[in-house]
Amino acid sequence: MAVKLMVCKDKGEVARKAADIIAEQIKAKADSVIGLATGSTPEGTYAELAKKNKVGGISFKKVRTFNLDEYLGIDCEHDQSYRYFMNDRLFNHVDIRMWNTHVLNGMAADPGLECLAFEQKILAEGGVDVWLLGIGNNGHIAFNEPGSAPNSRTRIVKLTESTIKANSDGRFFKNPLEVPHHALSAGIGTICEARRIILLATGANKAAAIKAAVEGPMTMDCPASLLQNHADVTFILDEDAVGKLSRK
Ligand code: F6R
Repeated sequence: MAVKLMVCKDKGEVARKAADIIAEQIKAKADSVIGLATGSTPEGTYAELAKKNKVGGISFKKVRTFNLDEYLGIDCEHDQSYRYFMNDRLFNHVDIRMWNTHVLNGMAADPGLECLAFEQKILAEGGVDVWLLGIGNNGHIAFNEPGSAPNSRTRIVKLTESTIKANSDGRFFKNPLEVPHHALSAGIGTICEARRIILLATGANKAAAIKAAVEGPMTMDCPASLLQNHADVTFILDEDAVGKLSRK
């Protein structure tokens, strides 16, 4: 199965296209199960979804969500926790029921059990309809760093130096020493069970990872390339992230 590509002129259009796909999903099935990501890339999509909700275009009242990952050892009140990010960028601005939003708890007494419970909750909700992803400069998806197995499940993972550096460039943590070295992350196997996957990438710094993911071999060296096997995966890219892709 080839990755489908949607090329946009800029990151604003990427955000609108992604929000349209999620909105259509929610319109077709009010109690959709939506997988979400954090990071800079989906912020515009969340703003677009909040706008649509405000004008009554869509309602999140029955929607259930699952987030990809959370830092280990960071409290949900911490302003760099992914729970805080999701509340701040999306959940506080739409009519979602907080109890229907699932973000792994980085302070769980038993993180292994937390990961298992997360997988079970996804199953209990009937699986994910659409999972929205970003991509790391090193090709990671969620916190599945290079070397992650295609059948990996939600688990404790170690972050690479490149991810720690990328997440402490001032957008999020101010200093690499503040970035936790471990996280809880949905696995590649977990993500690939979603019925549909949308991966967003903007900016020239993502072009090499996108080329490897779309046109390279399927390899654990580039976790996003493992999505090539999925039956319904679309990459929504701006011109800069498209870079030198030969297949546009
Ligand atoms: C976040 C996540 C990560 C990011 C990736 C890109 O939940 O799972 O894989 O999607 O690190 O981050 P940004 O969008 O900040 O470039």
